[in-house]
Amino acid sequence: MCGIVGYAGKEQCADILIDALSKLEYRGYDSAGIAVFENGVIKTEKSKGKLADLKDKLAAENSKPEGCVGIGHTRWATHGEPSDVNSHPHGNANVTIVHNGIIENYKEIKDFLLKKGYNFDSETDTETVAKLLDYFYEGNPLETIIKVISEVRGSYALGILFKDFPDKIFAVRKESPLLIGLGKTSNFIASDMTALLKYTRNYYLLEANEIAVISSENVEIFDTHKNPVAKEVNVANWDADAAEKGGYEHFMLKEIHEQPTAIKTTISPRINAGMPYLEESGLNMEDLKKYRKIFIVACGTAMHAGIVGKYIIEKMARVEVTVDIASEFRYRDPILTSEDLVIVISQSGETADTLAALRLSKEAGAKTMAVVNVKGSSIAREADIVIYTHAGPEISVASTKAYTVQLSIMYLLAFELAYAKGRISKERCEQYIADFVKIPDIIEDVIKSSEKSCQFAASKLMNADSLLYIGRGLDYALSMEGSLKLKEISYIHSEAYAAGELKHGTISLVTSEMPVVAVATQSDLFEKTVSNIKEVKARGAKVTLICKESDNVDEDVADYLVKLPVIDDVFMPILASVPLQLIAYYTSVLKGCDVDKPRNLAKSVTVE
Ligand code: G6P
Repeated sequence: MCGIVGYAGKEQCADILIDALSKLEYRGYDSAGIAVFENGVIKTEKSKGKLADLKDKLAAENSKPEGCVGIGHTRWATHGEPSDVNSHPHGNANVTIVHNGIIENYKEIKDFLLKKGYNFDSETDTETVAKLLDYFYEGNPLETIIKVISEVRGSYALGILFKDFPDKIFAVRKESPLLIGLGKTSNFIASDMTALLKYTRNYYLLEANEIAVISSENVEIFDTHKNPVAKEVNVANWDADAAEKGGYEHFMLKEIHEQPTAIKTTISPRINAGMPYLEESGLNMEDLKKYRKIFIVACGTAMHAGIVGKYIIEKMARVEVTVDIASEFRYRDPILTSEDLVIVISQSGETADTLAALRLSKEAGAKTMAVVNVKGSSIAREADIVIYTHAGPEISVASTKAYTVQLSIMYLLAFELAYAKGRISKERCEQYIADFVKIPDIIEDVIKSSEKSCQFAASKLMNADSLLYIGRGLDYALSMEGSLKLKEISYIHSEAYAAGELKHGTISLVTSEMPVVAVATQSDLFEKTVSNIKEVKARGAKVTLICKESDNVDEDVADYLVKLPVIDDVFMPILASVPLQLIAYYTSVLKGCDVDKPRNLAKSVTVE
């Protein structure tokens, strides 16, 4: 989704803005632009395409704006196609803005402004806000912004330049994320801290409808009554390298390799004297035991982590768990009571549907818990209980390490709940934890040992138009994520199917043209999955099988094999996720796709 940056400092800022925007590329975008005060005049340059296109344009036209205060934007089209004219910044000589979010009543505002004699160049909702700011402006930016935010409905993070204040950036947000970076002789705005890590780690979080006035020397924050607001300085503990590729060809590969560390960092603080310990997050086990039902609500990969969570929590703790896609949950009128726990899972903490589902659950009186990676994000701030995953910044759109750390929290929760409810003994729980802490090292080995076989499997899959992922139980839950990974970055249609359900329809699709990836890591279901594999092989499918080293696999069962070390079956999904990630990664690489920034996708989806 759109990315915003802004700089007020002592240095020429065009390159700083573009560099900071490059760190937000992962959010997904289709055009980019900057606006800089050049000798007191707002100079705007923008272009459809990537940042490289913007840079080429600035070089070809020798038009890079010169000045030390400016704003920048990467746009992910919502209102109007990707084009030069629809790109941000928008505005006129008096006021120019960048915007992330959606203005729901932009048509009304546009009609109103058309009657007042304003003209519009673009099809965007953003331009109406820029012109409304101009309409209300009478010399006081703060008052103008307050008037405008009382008129607009929807979500917004805005970076604003007023011609009369050439040393300042103004900013305000509601729903869409925006933070204020605090440097020594410069201050910033950005959609997230990855844009600023090179310049500063210190930042303020802007609450809804707080208005920031930013210059090189100073940052002031006001509420909508023009009262100053004192803010706490937050410090990002992600280092600047975390947002760089560090020698890897793609962020996705780097992030796959970072999983052992990410899991270690996520679980270590949650283990105390050999037992799971989530209480430091504000979780009260006595309360947790009492919930009638658990709802897990999320989108995309995070939702898939929830499905694995459901299997393990139900199996171990015998508590009913329902998993919902957030965009469905929010409109399906779910039956929620104060006896329910709603767990939302989100890497970014800003996904609009997940945030809406969280709010709906709170309104219904349910207790809410968020499993979130980004500190201080909207979901983290609004949930009753927050459990942070410690994956560090995830840049590749295709989620990998964020998924395995989300799984890790699901495991800890399942163990702790199972023990609290007397479903497992202390000794059994300690044994699970003892096994769990070994997993990061085992994953390290799996990444190395399965790389070649995954590359080989990818070379066999890359020419398919469509493929199936099959599994049973936890393997089925995991297959959903494997299938999503492949389709989002290689553009091959793929579907995950419960192996036992194939014969009720989907097997009619299976021919020699449709490869199948089968996951069979659960001992009690292995034979049954093998029978399903034989069914697809009998119809000509070539099968890639992911199973345990200890499994005896007859030659006629699998065409390509990826074998995994043997650990307790309950943990096999976290191991098997690695070859699924690698198969998707190498398929995408072999097909020459844009691995880290697949077409049409955004990392953080802040619109419905
Ligand atoms: C987007 C991303 C996915 C992610 C999903 C949910 O679709 O491309 O990788 O799983 O949003 O994001 P969240 O930040 O809430 O985990």
